Amino acid sequence: MGNWKLHTTRSCAESLAGAVVDVVTRENPPLEIALAPPFTFLAIVARVIEGSPVGLAAQDVFWEDEGAYTGEISAPMLADVGCKYCIVGHSERRRHFGETDHQVARKVSACLRHQLIPIVCVGESLAEREKGRAEDVVRRQVKAALVAVEEGQVVPVIAYEPVWAIGTGRAASPEDAARMSRVIREAVDELLGSNAGQRVRVLYGGSVNPGNVRGFAAEPDIDGALVGGASLRPDTFIPLVRAFAPGGSRR
Ligand code: 13P
Repeated sequence: MGNWKLHTTRSCAESLAGAVVDVVTRENPPLEIALAPPFTFLAIVARVIEGSPVGLAAQDVFWEDEGAYTGEISAPMLADVGCKYCIVGHSERRRHFGETDHQVARKVSACLRHQLIPIVCVGESLAEREKGRAEDVVRRQVKAALVAVEEGQVVPVIAYEPVWAIGTGRAASPEDAARMSRVIREAVDELLGSNAGQRVRVLYGGSVNPGNVRGFAAEPDIDGALVGGASLRPDTFIPLVRAFAPGGSRR
């Protein structure tokens, strides 16, 4: 999944999505591929990817469906414009906008009420890692975000995105990311039971690029990648898609 964050213009969004659609339509890898443009370009990208295997994702959502909440965008609005996925609880939202675990949980519920697949982001800061608290932080974030998920509901996708690896060029090691993925699966199991930990899909995010993607794709516990910077150009995004396709680096 490409998270375009606060980047692109209307015409850049259109051509970037078009380039991804061209390759994915031609190669048709057995993967889920999605693009998360800024809100204002969702409708434009929806038109470009229509009928292709590329899915549409939002970068955030508000927890109420409608009402007097100036500036917010709701889950039914996102579903209406064609979104299949929604990123929730990205560390940039937690850090710059004070988003709490409780708010993240409400957003997850809003997504599930409207058949949007939440991509829940979790990950420790550098200070938390240095204090040896990375696993505890991630466990807490996972359990808090999924607290309202009921048995039988779609299990959200979880993205492990250590804060210190985002946009820094300093990715986690594939082994470490895979270990944290197992921590996430354990936490999901403890919360939801019924083997949910094995069914949950775990992505890694944080400075993924064509040079390091193979290591992540080779880890059976890492199901995909959530990509920022490298998703902004076809020549850096497409190699990531190929690496996760069977025969790429996947065993
Ligand atoms: P970068 O790939 O730019 O490090 O960003 C990762 C990310 O935050 C994706 O959501």
